[in-house]
Amino acid sequence: MYFSCRARIIIAAFILASLALMVEPLRADTGYKGWLRYSRIHNDAVRKQYDRLPAVVVALGKTPVIESAQHELVRGVRGMLGRTLREEDNLPDESAIMLGTISEIHKATHGRFPDVHLKGDGYLLKSANLNGHACLVVTAANDRGVLYGAFALLRRIALRESVADLDIISEPAAPIRWVDEWDNLNGTVERGYGGRSIFWDNGSVAKDLGRARDYARFLASLGINECTVNNVNADPRVLTDSYIKQLAQIADVFRPWGVHLSIAVDIAAPKALGQLDTFDPLDPRVAEWWKQRANAIYSAIPDFGGFLVKADSEGQPGPSTYGRTQADAANCLARALKPHGGLVLYRAFVYNNHLDWRNPKNDRAKAAYDIFHPLDGQFDSNVVVQIKNGPIDFQVREPASPLFGGLQKTNQAIELQITQEYTGQQKQLCYLVPMWKATLDFNMEVHGAGSRTLVKDIVAGKVFHRPLGGFVGVANVGTDPTWMGSQLAMANLYGFGRLAWNPNLTSRQIAEEWTRQTFGTNPIVVATITRMLLSSWHIYENYTGPLGLGTLTNILGAHYGPDPQSAERNGWGQWIRADSKGVGMDRTIATGTGYIGQYSPPVSKMYESLQTCPDNLLLFMHHVPYTYRLHSGETVIQYIYDSHYLGAAQAQGLVSQWKMLRTLIDQQRYEEVLRMLEYQAGAAIVWRDAICDWFMRMSGIPDAKGRVGHHPGRIEAESMKLDGYKVIDVHPWEAASGGKAVTCSPPATQCTAEFRYDGTAGWYNISVEYFDQSNGVSLFQFFVNNQLIDHWAADAHLPAWRPSGSSSTRRNINGVALRPGDEIRIVGTPNGREYAPLDYIEIKPAQSD
Ligand code: GCU
Repeated sequence: MYFSCRARIIIAAFILASLALMVEPLRADTGYKGWLRYSRIHNDAVRKQYDRLPAVVVALGKTPVIESAQHELVRGVRGMLGRTLREEDNLPDESAIMLGTISEIHKATHGRFPDVHLKGDGYLLKSANLNGHACLVVTAANDRGVLYGAFALLRRIALRESVADLDIISEPAAPIRWVDEWDNLNGTVERGYGGRSIFWDNGSVAKDLGRARDYARFLASLGINECTVNNVNADPRVLTDSYIKQLAQIADVFRPWGVHLSIAVDIAAPKALGQLDTFDPLDPRVAEWWKQRANAIYSAIPDFGGFLVKADSEGQPGPSTYGRTQADAANCLARALKPHGGLVLYRAFVYNNHLDWRNPKNDRAKAAYDIFHPLDGQFDSNVVVQIKNGPIDFQVREPASPLFGGLQKTNQAIELQITQEYTGQQKQLCYLVPMWKATLDFNMEVHGAGSRTLVKDIVAGKVFHRPLGGFVGVANVGTDPTWMGSQLAMANLYGFGRLAWNPNLTSRQIAEEWTRQTFGTNPIVVATITRMLLSSWHIYENYTGPLGLGTLTNILGAHYGPDPQSAERNGWGQWIRADSKGVGMDRTIATGTGYIGQYSPPVSKMYESLQTCPDNLLLFMHHVPYTYRLHSGETVIQYIYDSHYLGAAQAQGLVSQWKMLRTLIDQQRYEEVLRMLEYQAGAAIVWRDAICDWFMRMSGIPDAKGRVGHHPGRIEAESMKLDGYKVIDVHPWEAASGGKAVTCSPPATQCTAEFRYDGTAGWYNISVEYFDQSNGVSLFQFFVNNQLIDHWAADAHLPAWRPSGSSSTRRNINGVALRPGDEIRIVGTPNGREYAPLDYIEIKPAQSD
C-alpha cells in the first residue's frame, strides 16, 4: 500500500500521539483550572530540557504579590516537572530563580545585575551568573511585573519552550488592561452565561470569595490589572458605607494577584440614595458628595482603581437631565478620584433608544461620535473614554467605531465583549479573537491616505501621544465549573488578556497557546482545536448575519435565536431596512445618514463607494437591491441563502472535527464539547431556515439552488395525526418550520403526534425538532410501532419562555431501521409552562451523515 509523504507524517504523528496517551492517563476534568492546569510533562526528552532549572526560588523584598509569584512557580513546576522548588528569602549559595523588583535585585546582588529600564508592568526574564552560580532572574519595575514574569516563565514551560539563556523583555502595550463584570448585587449576571456571580449573592458580598481569588489569579496570568465587579447598569447602593466594606473584602482577595478593584457607578447616585435633591455634575454639593464617597472608598480600599460610568444610555440617567455634557459628568467624578490616583472610565455607549425609524437620516451608529467628538480635549487627565469596538453593540460584524479616530486629545480604551452576547452565548463556538483583531488592526488613516494609525495603536495612546489608554473586556464569568459556561469559551478570556498585553500577537498564536495549555500538546489536538477556533467566527457569521447585517437575532429579547424583524420599525436603531426590493442601511454621505463621513477622508472614500466597500460590510454601509452583485459576482440574495447553507454545513463539520479527538481528550471535556457542538449544528439549521425563509418571503426571489423552502424527509408536526396536541402559530413565523408547531397545553397531560412512514426500507437518521424552553422540563418519547426507541427530557433551558427561534432544538436519533408502513409516534409530556412543543421530524438515510 502506498502512502504519500504527508499521509506518512500524519500517521506517524498519530502513532506518537497514541503512544503518549498510553503513558498520560486522561482524567476527568471539569475545566475549572482553565489554562493554568500545569499538567505533568511525561515525555522524558521534553522534560530533560528543564533539568537545569534551579532547585530554589528566592523572593526578594517579600510583598504579597511577590509571594504569589513565588508560590505560583512552586505550584507550576511541581505540576509540570514533578519537582518541588525550595522557597527562600535570601540569595543562596547555589543556582536560583530570583524574583524581585529591579531595585531589590540590585540591592541583593550589590549592583552586579545590569541596569535595565522597564516600563509600567513590563518584566525581564534573564539568565545571569550572579553569585558564582547560574541564576534565572525574574524582575520588573514593580511587584506586579514580577508576578507577570513568573507566569510568563511558567507559560514557557507549559508550551515546552526553552528556559535556558533567557534575555526577554516584555512590556504591555498599554496601562489599562481591565475586565468588567456585569454582576448584579442580587447575584445574577447581566449577559452572563456561566452561572451566578462569583462576587455577589442575594444582596451581599459572596460568603466564599475563593472563586474571586482564583479568578484574580487567572487575570494575573494574563497581565490584567483591574476588575470592575458590578453591572454597568449600576445599583447606586454600591456607594454606601455598607457596600464599601463588602467591596473591601473583594479587593483583599484581588490584592495578592496585583488586581485592583473598580466599580460601576450610577451618575444619579447622590439623588437616588436620597442624600441630595440633584445629581447635576456642576452643582458644588454634588461634586462634594462624590469627593466624600471617594474618600470613604479609599480609606477602605487604598489601591481602589476607579469608576466605570454608563450614563444617558438605555434608560440610565445622565448629565443631559441638567443640560450638561458627558465631559461635565466625567470630570466631576474624576476630580473626586484624582487626589487618590483613581480613574474614570466613561463609556461612549451613549445613544437615544427612542429614535424615529421613519426618518431615513436617523442613525444610532452616529451617536457616539456625534456626542463625544465635539468634547475632545474637555476631559480631565484621569478620564478615559471607553469605546465599544463597533458603533452599534457587539454584533457579529461591525466596522471599527469612527470615534477611535475622533478623539485626539482624550484618553481612550477599546471595549471588547468576551461574553458571547450576540455570538452564541457560550452555547455555540465562536472564538472572537479574529473579530477583535479585525478592529484592532484596522487602519483609521487619521493622518491622511496611507498613514498608519491602527486602532490598537490609537487606544494604546501611541498615535496621539496620550499618557493613558488600553483595553477593556466584558467578561461576565460565573459560578459554572467552566467559569464561562462552556469548555471552549475560556479561549476568549485568554485571547482578550493576551491581546491586551500584546495586540500584535496573531489569532493563531493565541489559539495554539491556549489549546496547548488547556488540552495538552498532542499535535493532532492542537491542530484540530486551533483550526476549529479559527474558523468559528466566520461560521457563526455565515449563519447569523452575513454582509454586515449584524446578528439577525431577537434584539428585543434574549439576543439569541433568529428574529430579523425585531430589528425593524422601533426606536432601537438596529435597522436593516429590508423591504421587497432591497436591504441594508444607507449610511453614505451622498444619499444616506452620513455616518460614513465620520471616518477620515481615505476611510470614508473606501466605504462610500460600492466599488471599494468590502462585501462583508456592504449592508452595514449601503442599501442595495437583492439583485445587486457582490464583488464575487453573486447576487446579494443568493449570497444570503448560500452563506446560511454553508454556515450550517460548517457547523456540522465542527462536530466531525471534534469527534476525531475522542481518544485524545479526557472524557468529561470531550463529551461536554461534543454535546455543545451537536446542539450548535442543530441551531445553525434553525438559523439557516429562519433567515432564508424570511428573506425569500421578503424578496419574493427563490433560491437558485432550490433548497430554501424545500426540505426532503421533513414531516411537519402539524400534518401528523394528533391526539391531545394542538396546532399553534409560532411568532415570529420563520422560527418554526411552516410557521407552526404543536403544543400539549392544559388540560392535556400527555399528547401524541404520529404518522405512517411511507418511504423505502433502510437505515435512517432521525431528527426531532422541538422547543426547549426555560420554564419547564417536558419529556419526549419516540416510538417506531410499539417499540420505544428513544426518550429524553427538554432540560437545556434555552433562553425563551415560548416556542421561538431561541428555544428550537433537535434530538438526533441515529441508525433507526424503517420499513414502509411503520408507525412513528412521539409522545410529549408537558411540564410547568413548557407544553412539550414539537416542530417537525426529519428522516435522512443514515449514510448521508
Ligand atoms: C447591550 C446589552 C446590555 C448592556 C449594554 C451595555 O445592549 O444587551 O445588557 O447593558 O449592552 O453595554 O451597556
